[in-house]
Amino acid sequence: MTDRNELIGVAIRVVAAAAVSFLSVRYLVKYLDPNYSVNQDCKKKVATLFRELGIDREIELSEHEVRIATQFVGGEDVGAEWDEIGGCEELVAELKDRIILPLRFAAQSGSHLLSPPRGILLYGPPGCGKTLLAKAVARAAGCRFINLQVSILTDKWYGESQKLAAAVFSVAQKFQPTIIFIDEIDSFLRDRQSHDHESTAMMKAQFMTLWDGFASSGDQVIVMGATNRPRDVDAAILRRMTARFQVPVPNAKQRSQILNVILRNETFEDSVDLEEIAQKAEGLSGSDLKEVCRLALLARAKATVASGGSVQRLLPLEQTDFESAVRKYMRAAQLLVEETLD
Ligand SMILES: Nc1ncnc2c1ncn2[C@@H]1O[C@H](COP(=O)(O)OP(=O)(O)O)[C@@H](O)[C@H]1O
Ligand SMILES: [Mg+2]
Repeated sequence: MTDRNELIGVAIRVVAAAAVSFLSVRYLVKYLDPNYSVNQDCKKKVATLFRELGIDREIELSEHEVRIATQFVGGEDVGAEWDEIGGCEELVAELKDRIILPLRFAAQSGSHLLSPPRGILLYGPPGCGKTLLAKAVARAAGCRFINLQVSILTDKWYGESQKLAAAVFSVAQKFQPTIIFIDEIDSFLRDRQSHDHESTAMMKAQFMTLWDGFASSGDQVIVMGATNRPRDVDAAILRRMTARFQVPVPNAKQRSQILNVILRNETFEDSVDLEEIAQKAEGLSGSDLKEVCRLALLARAKATVASGGSVQRLLPLEQTDFESAVRKYMRAAQLLVEETLD
């Protein structure tokens, strides 16, 4: 009987020792791997994103690919509808013709010539809808959309950058059709102060090579860039962006269309004349107009509360709300210009 008890005692000790060493090794691995917690966070983020995007296929992803997959746009960020973009009818029609339609054709036809361009550039002044358009394209095309933050590629560990650049394309391929969107592409890897210059240059070269590889394959991977400064875009990148679309500052008619879009869910007095407001808002961009509308609504909310009403039931917007909002906004912009000229 004592023999048996001793045996059980030894067995318990062996199991306990094994458990302790297992846990300590696991702890050590966590402790020694600087990326452990980042990787775990990335995995969680990707799992949530995939749920939002309705991706339920089991696709094996490497550690680098998981990191890139965190850049998928999902959930509430998923692109705008076409009708949320005002004053860009011709451009939208052109984008549909040259990107959406070929994507559909390419799925059915074997011809390379029917496939969409592999590099697309949207250029024009800030706040005029480049990012909005890029997201709308992705949504309409039913594409996956990777909003690539270039900083994620310049990993501090030498060699990792290249693996991450490779992962951009391999992830894009696994979930194709995919649009790899690079906002402000003029600053893409143009970090001259970087101590890591050589590896950055190598990564850039690799990015181009991978891009060319996809351009000649049947895969549906598109690189789309946006910039306010097309002249500053690296020549090698520009050459690969064969489809270029200008997104200009809106004219008066376009401004009034943008106002209509931004204010589509608000209530107005019948006397409100958005065309007149648009005339007065000379030179303002889409994002400026949005700010003007915000100011107008704020004024209306203040007036509603002052007259004993509630913010949930705003009084209808009036012409004067917009007029003073435009004046206020343009005045502030003017002051800023004067300040920077001094
Ligand atoms: N044509 C437009 N129609 C409707 N809203 C616009 C338009 N252009 C800009 N906006 C508004 O301004 C914001 C910023 O636009 P964005 O697409 O980021 O400009 P860009 O990328 O050209 O700098 C958008 O989120 C949207 O609210
Ligand atoms: Mg933008």
